[in-house]
Formats: sequence, structure tokens, C-alpha cells
Amino acid sequence: MKPLPLPPFFLLPLFLFCTTAATVNATKPATPTAPTLSPTPSPTSSPTPPTNTTPSSSRSTLDPKQIEALQSLDIPTTRDPCIQPSPHNATICDSSKPFRHLISLHLSNCSTDLSLSFTALKSLSSLRSLSFTNCHASPIRFPSDLSLSLTSFSCIRSLRRLPGVWLSRFVNLTDLTVSYTPVNTSGLYVIIGNMHKLKTVTISHANLTGYLPRHVHLNLTHVDLSDNKLKGRIPTSFTLLEDLEYLNLSSNGLNGEIPTEFGDLISLKNLSLASNSFSGPIPDSMSAIPGLVHVDLSNNQLNGTVPRFFTELKGLKVLNLEKNQFHGVLPFNASFIKRLAVFKVGGNDNLCYNHSVLSSKMKLGIAPCDKHGLPLSPPPSKESSGDSESDSSDYDDDGDDSSDKKEHHHGPSKVVLGVAIGLSSIVFLIVFLILLSKWCG
Ligand SMILES: *[C@@H]1O[C@H](CO)[C@@H](O)[C@H](O)[C@H]1NC(C)=O
Ligand SMILES: *[C@@H]1O[C@H](CO)[C@@H](O)[C@H](O)[C@H]1NC(C)=O
Ligand SMILES: *[C@@H]1O[C@H](CO)[C@@H](O)[C@H](O)[C@H]1NC(C)=O
Ligand SMILES: *[C@@H]1O[C@H](CO)[C@@H](O)[C@H](O)[C@H]1NC(C)=O
Ligand SMILES: *[C@@H]1O[C@H](CO)[C@@H](O)[C@H](O)[C@H]1NC(C)=O
Ligand SMILES: *[C@@H]1O[C@H](CO)[C@@H](O)[C@H](O)[C@H]1NC(C)=O
Ligand SMILES: *[C@@H]1O[C@H](CO)[C@@H](O)[C@H](O)[C@H]1NC(C)=O
Ligand SMILES: *[C@@H]1O[C@H](CO)[C@@H](O)[C@H](O)[C@H]1NC(C)=O
Ligand SMILES: *[C@@H]1O[C@H](CO)[C@@H](O)[C@H](O)[C@H]1NC(C)=O
Ligand SMILES: *[C@@H]1O[C@H](CO)[C@@H](O)[C@H](O)[C@H]1NC(C)=O
Ligand SMILES: *[C@@H]1O[C@H](CO)[C@@H](O)[C@H](O)[C@H]1NC(C)=O
Repeated sequence: MKPLPLPPFFLLPLFLFCTTAATVNATKPATPTAPTLSPTPSPTSSPTPPTNTTPSSSRSTLDPKQIEALQSLDIPTTRDPCIQPSPHNATICDSSKPFRHLISLHLSNCSTDLSLSFTALKSLSSLRSLSFTNCHASPIRFPSDLSLSLTSFSCIRSLRRLPGVWLSRFVNLTDLTVSYTPVNTSGLYVIIGNMHKLKTVTISHANLTGYLPRHVHLNLTHVDLSDNKLKGRIPTSFTLLEDLEYLNLSSNGLNGEIPTEFGDLISLKNLSLASNSFSGPIPDSMSAIPGLVHVDLSNNQLNGTVPRFFTELKGLKVLNLEKNQFHGVLPFNASFIKRLAVFKVGGNDNLCYNHSVLSSKMKLGIAPCDKHGLPLSPPPSKESSGDSESDSSDYDDDGDDSSDKKEHHHGPSKVVLGVAIGLSSIVFLIVFLILLSKWCG
């Protein structure tokens, strides 16, 4: 651990070089992030067809019973709630006479002491759409007229906790959304089993337990069950959903293989099975789904080789295969990868890329292949600089990976070099000052 006896003058340029190199390295990770797009303000003045009906205040206005109900729900009624657009689109009315009726109601940011009353809800049985956002009232039993009338129900961070049986009474729903609200049920089938018209279902971040239902409604187009506690396999019957465009089962405890008939989901565009325990290969049948745009299979135990068919999916924008157990040579070239907005394959220890096809500059997070299609052992990390010489010589003929080479050619460790440089510069400074004082004095 002795400082190297090098002349200090020799080390000054080195010292300067080192500090600049260090600052360059330090600034490197701060690459410009993508600009955050702010939503373009939509023009507030839409064609507004209902303006003709509004000037006469008495001719057609909201049913007084419903005005009372709105007041009990803290919705301001000083202005006719039927005039469009209502504040935050909270209310939308039909055009019946003599009184108009609410067909859509959106309660949001409710006061903490708001309580739903059965009487109020009873007079709101004309509603087709009801939604709650940040509204922590207790979920009372809904009048059956209202339950049957609803085609759309949404509950986001609201109503504290929902029993599955309570949700199951909305049998005429086409759209169901429950998010960031715990749902207590023995299984998803309890909730949606009788909703024969259901087209879109989102129950996410809801601690939903149990298994995926074996019998599903064939008209589903959107299924988001992400971030729950679902377990078991994907039933083969799921692959019968030929209208399904969106399937998100991410962040659950699902396992088993992806069904071999998965390719029967011919309408699928967005798919996430991320962060589960799926194993086995990506089924070949998936190559038959022409419209795939977003595929996220990350964080599972999928194995086998990465299929080449992804290159034939013209609309593909996002492909995330990271943190699995894929092996073999990555079958993609640079022009395919650059066409994608997101491509991730890191965290697959036995997967490698052909370095006469792909450059190490693409930073794929996997090792280059040897001539047998096996990954070369990854470049040694900072801790393990004492690797065998034969290993490092493999990397030396990789022209563009200069950073790896630099690490290898350092004789003494970084600490020793640092101390040497530090001490030498102090000595140099002292000599310089002495010289200066002699010269000036
Ligand atoms: C209200 O709804 C209309 C039509 O659905 C939409 O275009 C508009 O942006 C909404 N306005 C607000 C403030 O949410
Ligand atoms: C509810 O509160 C959130 C955040 O406090 C706010 O962004 C949102 O605009 C509010 N919505 C309504 C309808 O008042
Ligand atoms: C809702 O469903 C019930 C029975 O399932 C049916 O009798 C009723 O007509 C439906 N209501 C509406 C408004 O579609
Ligand atoms: C789900 O359960 C966890 C703990 O088990 C809890 O921290 C979390 O808040 C729950 N989520 C919801 C939406 O209630
Ligand atoms: C709902 O939650 C309660 C209390 O946590 C539990 O005892 C009950 O079994 C749950 N019901 C269902 C259907 O899971
Ligand atoms: C699916 O929807 C079509 C019309 O869009 C309808 O004719 C058919 O009966 C529905 N199927 C099911 C199983 O609900
Ligand atoms: C799936 O859901 C998760 C969590 O809700 C979300 O972060 C992710 O973007 C979704 N994936 C797709 C493909 O929409
Ligand atoms: C992939 O995983 C499955 C199940 O975990 C296993 O049976 C199979 O042998 C594995 N295949 C390969 C090629 O590793
Ligand atoms: C599907 O994925 C694409 C690409 O990531 C994204 O732009 C689009 O919003 C997603 N669609 C839905 C319904 O989430
Ligand atoms: C990249 O791969 C695709 C699909 O395999 C192929 O069509 C294309 O010609 C290849 N491009 C180059 C530059 O090799
Ligand atoms: C790498 O690509 C070259 C040129 O396409 C090919 O000759 C070689 O066999 C490939 N190597 C491996 C391990 O696949």
C-alpha cells in the first residue's frame, strides 16, 4: 500500500484528467428525461346541442325529488344541474318532460361526514351511470331499482370496502371499475357471474383474492385485474374471449404456464402478465395475434428461447421480457429494437446477444454470446476485479466496449492510485509554493 514513487510533475496532468473524467462520469446518468406532456386544454365551447333547451328555466328542469337527493349528497343545486356542461361533469340529465331525470352522477372529493341515504338513492333510480372518486362514505344497500338500472359503476378510492355480493347486484352493468378500494369476496365469479352484459371490468389495487373464473362472458373487451392477490392458473376458457383487446393481470400471485391456446385472443392489443409466477415458454400461438401493441411479461419465471415472431408484429411498441429465465441468442436486430418505444430484456441470466448483429452500446442488460450461443460471463463488477486473465482477453477484441477494457488494465487498485495521486499533488503543491516564494522573494 505504498504510494508509487512517481515524479509529481508527471502526475499533475493525470490528476486533472482524473477529476474531469470523474465529473463527466458523474453527469452521465443525468440524461434528459422525456418531456412530460401536459394535457392540451380541450376547448370548453363544444358544439353544445342542448343550449336551445336551457333558456326557459321552468319548462323542463330536474325532478324536485332528485334535486333534494342531490342536496343530501352535497351537490350544489343553486344552478340547474341539467345545464351542460355541469361542473366537473358531475350531473347529466335526460330530456324527459315535465321533469328531467338524472342519467349520470359523479360524486368526488366528498366531505368526510357524507352519508348515503336509502331515500336519496331510491329517488335516483333513473341513473344509468354512477361513479365515486375519493368519496369515503359507507356503502349502504342500494335500492334494487337503482341496482338494476345502472349500466356503469365506478368506485375509485371510495366507499371504504366493498363486499363482492354487494357489487354482484348490479346485473345490468356493461362497465365496472373498482380501484384502490378493498373488495372482500371469495372469488371474482361471485361479482361478475351474473353480469351478462359486461364488456369492461377493472378491479385493480383492491386486494381481490381467489382464482380467475372458469366461465367468463364472451363479450368482454377490457379486463384489468392488476395488483391484487389472485392465485392459480389462467383458465383455458379465457382464451375464448375473441373480442378481448386489453388484458392486465399484473402483480398477482398467478402461476402455471401461459395457455398454449393464448393465440386465440385474436383481438388483443395490450397484454400484461408482469410480476406473477408464470413459468414455461411464450406460446407459439401468440404469433397469430396480429394487433399486439404492448406486451409486458416481465418479472416471471418464463423460460425457453425468445421467439422471433415479435419482429413480425407491425404495431408492436412495447416489449418487456426482463427478469425471466429465457435462454439462448436474442433473435432481434437493431432495426427492430429501435422501432420499439420500450424494449427490455435485462435480468435473464442465460440470454445473450450476437455481437456481430447488435452493438454493446444498446445496453440491453444481457451478455454477448460466445460462438456456441452461450452468454460470455458478464464483465466483472467493481468488487471482483481479480478475475482470471483468460476471461478478460475475450472482451478485449470487442472494439466499442472501452469502459470494460479500462477497468481491466488498471494494475494497482483504485485506492492505491488515488492515494498516490493525492500525496503527489500535495508534494507538488509544496514544491511549487517553495519555488514561487524563492522566485518572488
Ligand atoms: C365533460 O364531458 C365531456 C363529454 O364527455 C368532455 O368532452 C369534457 O371534457 C368533460 N369536461 C370535464 C370538465 O371533465
Ligand atoms: C378532487 O381533488 C383533487 C385533488 O385534491 C383535484 O385534483 C380534483 O380536481 C378534485 N375533483 C373535483 C371534481 O373537485
Ligand atoms: C336489468 O336486468 C333485469 C333482470 O336481470 C331486467 O328485468 C331489467 O329490465 C334490466 N333493466 C334495465 C334498465 O335494463
Ligand atoms: C391491501 O392489503 C395491504 C396489507 O395486506 C394493505 O396495506 C393495503 O392498503 C390494502 N389495499 C387496499 C386497496 O385496501
Ligand atoms: C369478508 O371479511 C370478513 C372480515 O375480514 C371475513 O370474515 C369474511 O370471510 C370475508 N368475506 C368473504 C366473502 O370473503
Ligand atoms: C355479445 O354481443 C353481441 C352484440 O354485440 C350479442 O348479439 C351477443 O348475444 C353477445 N354475447 C353474449 C355472450 O353476451
Ligand atoms: C397494468 O396495470 C399496472 C398496474 O395497475 C399498470 O402499471 C400497467 O401500466 C398496466 N399495463 C398495461 C399493459 O396496461
Ligand atoms: C421451463 O420450465 C418448466 C417448468 O418450470 C420446466 O418443466 C422446463 O423443463 C423448463 N424448460 C427449459 C428449457 O428450461
Ligand atoms: C396500449 O398500449 C399502448 C402502447 O404502450 C398505449 O399507448 C395505450 O394507451 C394502451 N392502451 C390502453 C387501453 O391502455
Ligand atoms: C432485421 O430483422 C427483420 C426481421 O427479422 C428483417 O426483416 C430486417 O431485414 C432486418 N434488418 C436488418 C438491417 O438486418
Ligand atoms: C451471429 O451472427 C452471425 C452473422 O449473422 C452468424 O454468422 C453467427 O452464427 C451468429 N452467432 C451466433 C452465436 O448465433
